[in-house]
Amino acid sequence: ISLTGFMGCGKSSVGRRLSELLCCPFMDLDEEIEAWAGKSIPEIFAEDGEAGFRAIEAERLGSILSEGHEVSEANVRDTSALPTESPETTQSKENDVPFETAEIILALGGGTVMTRECAEIVQNGTICIYLKASVETLVSHLEGETANRPMLLGESLRGRISGLMERRSATYESTAHIIIDIDGKTIDEIA
Ligand code: S3P
Repeated sequence: ISLTGFMGCGKSSVGRRLSELLCCPFMDLDEEIEAWAGKSIPEIFAEDGEAGFRAIEAERLGSILSEGHEVSEANVRDTSALPTESPETTQSKENDVPFETAEIILALGGGTVMTRECAEIVQNGTICIYLKASVETLVSHLEGETANRPMLLGESLRGRISGLMERRSATYESTAHIIIDIDGKTIDEIA
């Protein structure tokens, strides 16, 4: 399962919660990029520009989804204490189809699906969920949270968010298989 949406919509928080609910590992593409590059996202932008960052992003996404993944220990949930579920409890009630646990929950970056190659990988290789938020919600989540987000530097925060959202929202919607309106909802409710 992959999570897409604008910066600040809660991809990582919802992803972590969802991974607990589904008892499967969580990965954050931004964290994978930083670990692989050995530098922070602002450093990558400063040294290699946005184009350099997008190239690393596409490469990491492709290799995570095609070659499998090594999930860092911090993101592996200890499931040993959980009761072993009987087949009955893992059936979907509506249609009796066995409930499939996702192999992995992957939080994408806010701009990942804007690279066509990445959008194709996400659409064909994952169930993609778009966490859709209004500009109002995004402004409230992102105030004071811009230091590590080079894409938000420059003009006023609201102006930057609405300008980027205008360019991106159609792509988020067309790439995702599921769209969830997150305004006014808690992380738990969204998950
Ligand atoms: C970006 C979003 C960031 C990160 C990078 C670029 C974007 O991820 O990948 O700063 O272009 O929207 P988050 O959405 O996790 O903040």
